[in-house]
Amino acid sequence: MNFANSLTEWYLKNKRDLPWRNTQNPYFIWLSEIMLQQTRVAQGMPYFYSFTTAFPTVFDLANAWEEQVLKLWQGLGYYSRARNLHKTAQYVAFELDGKFPDNYTALLKLKGVGSYTAAAIASFSYGESVPVVDGNVFRVLSRYFDIETDILSNSAKKEFADLAYELIPKNNPALFNQAIMEFGALQCIPK
Ligand code: ADE
Repeated sequence: MNFANSLTEWYLKNKRDLPWRNTQNPYFIWLSEIMLQQTRVAQGMPYFYSFTTAFPTVFDLANAWEEQVLKLWQGLGYYSRARNLHKTAQYVAFELDGKFPDNYTALLKLKGVGSYTAAAIASFSYGESVPVVDGNVFRVLSRYFDIETDILSNSAKKEFADLAYELIPKNNPALFNQAIMEFGALQCIPK
């Protein structure tokens, strides 16, 4: 069986039921991905619930006082993430009429959204065929395909992104991205 099929088969048997996996709402997916930057799932989960309860739409978050946003963020650390989150919510709510950009390139222009987060939102919300590439993905691909490239080298990111792009099934990029993240987090873990 090929890589993508084995991986998704493993994922469907072993995946955790995470709240942001049961939605295609780009606001919820964006929230979860910002929270999970430098943060473990178990630590981020209660914050995902408190934010989506306090601010069910991007307009609710945009209209909140920064003080309230920072207070709800307390304990997650990296407070610049919370400030960017609030500013981006205001930008989406007031400049974009509440509609998140609907493709990878446009998502990248949002404050606080890098290539990983843009790929996650583009694939999970809009089905765009763009691979997520982070430390987990480096580890999974380098072990499976015996790649010896130093992941700290300049060319590494492009090499892994090109390979992931070849592997990602164009008819279900979201499933592949969730699966490779989950396999890197639960099974193919750092030594
Ligand atoms: N870490 C970053 N994004 C994630 C996601 N969507 N699911 C699980 N862990 C993640």
